[in-house]
Amino acid sequence: MRKHIVAGNWKMNTTLPEGVALAKEVNAALAAKDANCDVIICVPFTHLATIAGVIDQNKLGLGAENCADHKSGAYTGEVSAPMVASTGATYVILGHSERRQYYGETSETLREKVALALENGLTPIFCIGEVLAEREAGQHFEVVKKQIEEGLFNLSAEDFGKIILAYEPVWAIGTGKTATDDQAEEIHAYIRSVIADKYGKEVAEETSILYGGSCKPSNAKALFAKPNVDGGLIGGASLKCADFMGIVEAWD
Ligand code: PGA
Repeated sequence: MRKHIVAGNWKMNTTLPEGVALAKEVNAALAAKDANCDVIICVPFTHLATIAGVIDQNKLGLGAENCADHKSGAYTGEVSAPMVASTGATYVILGHSERRQYYGETSETLREKVALALENGLTPIFCIGEVLAEREAGQHFEVVKKQIEEGLFNLSAEDFGKIILAYEPVWAIGTGKTATDDQAEEIHAYIRSVIADKYGKEVAEETSILYGGSCKPSNAKALFAKPNVDGGLIGGASLKCADFMGIVEAWD
């Protein structure tokens, strides 16, 4: 059975003390209950090593929000996959729409990032999703197919099996406008069929596909009830422990 997952994406929020306090709070909340899903927080680079030291990673996974497309060298300001792994983190978000939009990330650089993440034992949470104009033009299926093909289909079936996918319609991110659970199910089922065509039904059935975009405690249960929605990638609502735990509890 594929995993059910709730992953937080803190983005560029919290100072180090604030982030450590939030991580401790989530860690304590998870220690007090048996979550019915895997729970992960993806946090700023500056927070990784400290947070790794204060959480129980058997209950709360830790990830970065990005990594470099090179292993090491003269790339001022970049943080590599080996560096991320050396903090104790085991996940990394790759290809978030904000990285694609504001920092010019292409499928070509993402292929390098995915390869380096896997080489260093990090599990990529690979993001795909269409912008509003593409949705309105009815192009969302071909857009996500192209993103998956270009970013991931160079992988062996074994390596593809290590990827977590996150479908995030860009028009729903931080806007309060969630995809309806039927819209999410429709495209998640399509994404699974694209994977099945390439790697076979078994690999497709084992792939966790998360939904992201204004997911909150009030809509998580309906989204997660859909057969092809395996959890959520949570931005804004991951910054408050009660909201984040409310979404984790949608799996109870
Ligand atoms: P949001 O962000 O939950 O604030 O919409 C989701 C994301 O960008 O991962």
